[in-house]
Amino acid sequence: MITHALTVVYTEVSGIAQLDKGDRELLKQAWDACESAYAPYSNFHVGAALILANNQIFKGNNQENAAYPSGICAERVAVFTASAACPGIPIKSLAVVAKTEAFKLENPATPCGACRQVIAEYEMLSGEPIRILLQGNTDKIWILEGIANLLPLMFQGGGLKK
Ligand code: THU
Repeated sequence: MITHALTVVYTEVSGIAQLDKGDRELLKQAWDACESAYAPYSNFHVGAALILANNQIFKGNNQENAAYPSGICAERVAVFTASAACPGIPIKSLAVVAKTEAFKLENPATPCGACRQVIAEYEMLSGEPIRILLQGNTDKIWILEGIANLLPLMFQGGGLKK
């Protein structure tokens, strides 16, 4: 019997001053998207912004629905919008921000399981790790180099593709 242990790595910075211009701009775009989230049911507002290898930026925010499961997360809106407009162009970085007045958000909100799997799909397509920046209601920013840090042992689809 062998017990394996996996490590996830993330870097924490306090405030955007410690980030380079590109990261700052992406977070700004994510906050901009967050402002127009449609989240009347949860009041949990999420914004996402990503930059592609061709330097185009795409944004998304959560879109809720009275039939609750019909809504969609900010991350998937951004990633699917980018892939629809620019198929096959790798995602370099993705910023996700969240705010709510409903409760205290001590740490950055991390993507849900479904979004992690979707991000993983596009990372596997390009073969290059996606840089992920996360921020919540505070100055705290978490930076992860690659989806494996959010989704260890991810489902890789193996032989599903023909
Ligand atoms: N939400 C996101 O947009 N991204 C996540 O990664 C987690 C959750 C949204 C879905 C729903 O509109 C609200 O946040 C509360 O779950």
